[in-house]
Amino acid sequence: RITPVILSGGTGTRLWPLSREAFPKQLLPLAGEHSLLQETALRVADRSIFAAPILIANAEHRFVIAEQLRELGINDATIVLEPVGRNTTAAAAVAALIESRRDPDGLILLMAADHVVQDKAALLDSICRGVDAALAGKFVLFGVKPYEPATGYGYIQRGMETEYPEVYAVRRFVEKPDSATAENYFASGEYLWNSAIFLLPVSTFISEVERHAPEILAASRAALDEAGQDLDFIRLNEAAFVKSPSVAVDYAVMEKTDLTVVVPTDCGWTDVGSWSALAAIGQQDDDGNVMIGEVTALDVRNSYLRGEGQLVAALGVDDLVVVATPDVVLVTHKSRDQEVKKIVEQLRNEG
Ligand code: GDD
Ligand code: MG
Repeated sequence: RITPVILSGGTGTRLWPLSREAFPKQLLPLAGEHSLLQETALRVADRSIFAAPILIANAEHRFVIAEQLRELGINDATIVLEPVGRNTTAAAAVAALIESRRDPDGLILLMAADHVVQDKAALLDSICRGVDAALAGKFVLFGVKPYEPATGYGYIQRGMETEYPEVYAVRRFVEKPDSATAENYFASGEYLWNSAIFLLPVSTFISEVERHAPEILAASRAALDEAGQDLDFIRLNEAAFVKSPSVAVDYAVMEKTDLTVVVPTDCGWTDVGSWSALAAIGQQDDDGNVMIGEVTALDVRNSYLRGEGQLVAALGVDDLVVVATPDVVLVTHKSRDQEVKKIVEQLRNEG
């Protein structure tokens, strides 16, 4: 069985003011009845394929996470707490070390806590297709066909089919290219997006982290060896963990190793990172508006309107994002919504 590893350390600033540091987007029900984290856990809940999951999260979110899992009846998760975030290489290394101590031949499925997958069965199919390659020591990445020249994703150039059916070699792996490069990749039709879902053989993964990022592995191992048991949580040792360099696994390992292969998947994957991304998957009315909560609109088109704790009333506007919460109202143009993080920074600087 595969052990799912759910990374839940992000803060989701582009979805401010709904997503806050104390309550980031993965803990919110943004695209359905359950939170994104709960949706992720449910996606890998079939215990004939998956073992109990490992969650790695910011220590501050521990009670919300435990409660959200309890709501789903998931009582056997291992919840690992980070005293500080050290990015995804360290988090993945900790999870791989935990699994390798139970089973050195084990596989982990590394996943983000904040993605939407519309076709769960298709994803499970793709995962099963990757198992033989992963057991043979490959890092199996799931690749999504791009629908725009986005710069916020990793791109994978697909090579020849390997000895495993529908598993392809990776000719090139480029994390977050600039926009000219992304345009080229998109136009070529040869590239897939990195979904950030990886099926990894733990022992080989640990050796590759050791080879390409030895300080991260050493700090992660020490933080786990000296971890404390806090209620049901594993609390990583802070003094050890802070020593880890903070680098995303895509840069530290995946771009460097030659073990990566890719399985194309058509599972309706989206990274709901921004308001327009949420608008794209939301229920649109005849005018192209997505309206959530307390909202009334007249002569409004192609907008995302959300009222929580107060009424949003919009008249005669197009292409806007308006998100009202009890203490903040955000108004921006849809085309500028990637920059919401800038306004959060500005607020932080203003103290
Ligand atoms: N536990 C933990 N600790 N989780 C973390 C940390 C951390 O320090 N930092 C990030 N994460 C989690 C996030 O919550 C998210 O679930 C996942 O790891 C990916 O991190 P992001 O920060 O969202 O990465 P990204 O979106 O910029 O880029 C990655 O994902 C893209 C797909 O959404 C890359 O893998 C790209 O190549 C990929 O296309
Ligand atoms: Mg992301």
